[in-house]
Amino acid sequence: MQKLRAARILGWGKALPDRVLSNQELERIVDTSDEWIRTRTGIRERRIAAPDTAASDLALLAAQEALAKANLTVEKVDLIIVATVTPDMVFPATACLVQSRLGASRAAGFDLEAGCSGFLYALATGREFVASRTYDHVLVIGVEVLSRILNWQDRNTCVLFGDGAGAIVLGPAPLGEGILSTYLGADGAGGGLLSVPAGGSRRPVDQDVLATGAQYIQMNGSEVFKFAVRVMGEASLKALERAGLDLSAVSYLVPHQANQRIIDAAAKRLRLSPDRVIVNLDRYGNMSSASIPVALAEAADEGCFKSGDVLVLVGFGAGLTWGASVVRW
Ligand code: ACO
Repeated sequence: MQKLRAARILGWGKALPDRVLSNQELERIVDTSDEWIRTRTGIRERRIAAPDTAASDLALLAAQEALAKANLTVEKVDLIIVATVTPDMVFPATACLVQSRLGASRAAGFDLEAGCSGFLYALATGREFVASRTYDHVLVIGVEVLSRILNWQDRNTCVLFGDGAGAIVLGPAPLGEGILSTYLGADGAGGGLLSVPAGGSRRPVDQDVLATGAQYIQMNGSEVFKFAVRVMGEASLKALERAGLDLSAVSYLVPHQANQRIIDAAAKRLRLSPDRVIVNLDRYGNMSSASIPVALAEAADEGCFKSGDVLVLVGFGAGLTWGASVVRW
């Protein structure tokens, strides 16, 4: 058997719809206020995909940028993993749609769904393929068009989310470099706290569903909040332990962007000052699987990370699921 190796991030990219939806505009759609949204969540505005834009459109753009940054041609891509809860359609997989439009004819492809933790699950999966030498180059994409599954009459949810895509390319690295550890968790007993109840095989869309809005995101916000605050710190510490590092080694936290108060609580638990925490939810809201890769790509483009920096990527989401990864930049 061949020896294991590490995987590292060779390139990154993002794609965001042009359309900005501000809190002020939302005030005209539902009974809410800019003040409520900003103080409870930290969100000021979010991006909304055009009616003719689907997940694969945004995913393709993010993937092309990531490949260009990695200086890699499409022929080199061995596998495409797309994390999403809003695929173009039930099947074929959005990864296959991206593969075709990218022209990555050598690549295998599949979608993976783990709520807002989807990118961390996909990263962990891609890393294993590279580490085991099954593949050399894996494209990992997180993409969401959540605006399509929001009930625009429900102020509890419609103010929180946005659309976008982020992508990274993984390639081989010597052991001890790149992705140092991953940690994943799930608790299906909490699945009812955050779901889209209808549209699957349990409850296909019919007139009753349409009348009650069960095809849209439904959430118990305060319970999800408590769960999130608990697992963000725990998952980060577990991933650090697996990497053989302690808190003092952490350069930056790249958290899932759901709520500023959840991020602040995680940062406090990890004893990180705000300048060590990557935040973009004020501009994009919660983009589920796309939040972490977009935050990572933006911070990398701004030159935030220097070689050798230790990043902790951490998130939580529907499932319930959670996860973290420690990356040496
Ligand atoms: N505008 C004005 N008022 C609102 C709004 C709004 N947009 N939304 C809710 N309210 C009201 C509620 O109706 C409630 O009113 P009531 O007391 O009269 O019933 C009041 O505000 C307080 O509601 P709470 O739920 O107590 O508010 P809280 O401080 O918990 O904040 C929030 C709500 C922002 C949803 C918070 O709980 C949260 O962020 N939870 C986590 C959600 C999350 O991260 N979800 C994504 C998970 S990831 C995934 O996989 C998709």
